[in-house]
Amino acid sequence: RRLLLVNGPNLNLLGTREPDVYGTSTLADVERITTDAAASLGFEVRAVQSNHEGVLVDAIHAAREDCAGIVINPAGLTHTSVVLRDALSAVALPVAEVHISDVSHREPFRQHSYVADVAIVHVVGEGVAGYASATRRLIDVLTGHAE
Ligand code: DQA
Repeated sequence: RRLLLVNGPNLNLLGTREPDVYGTSTLADVERITTDAAASLGFEVRAVQSNHEGVLVDAIHAAREDCAGIVINPAGLTHTSVVLRDALSAVALPVAEVHISDVSHREPFRQHSYVADVAIVHVVGEGVAGYASATRRLIDVLTGHAE
């Protein structure tokens, strides 16, 4: 079985982007952490990152064909995108929402997530390790071991 890992705009710059907020791990590290966490529970991962909302929407639609769930860090689109939220609702796959930083203690405009109530797992402020915990929790749900 397979998961789709979606990383939104600017996350291609992880490692050099505001390292005091997001740390020094790279997108490649994030994809490896997620892949390893999934593999240890018998799942594969297909990873996509894009700075273009429509590319993310297309990847989410395609996940309907061959993925059991979606791990997503929508990045800035978290706080703006009805479109991304609608795509996630449309495919009706279980979703885990991850944020590297603790968005709950940042600017007011980061306090609202359009994705939160279509996700069943939420991980914030655990750094890039949060992708592993989100992946494990999502797989627990998929395999009937939790929630
Ligand atoms: C982020 C938090 C968002 O508010 C921000 O726009 C990002 C990254 C995070 O992982 O902490 O790009 O999703």
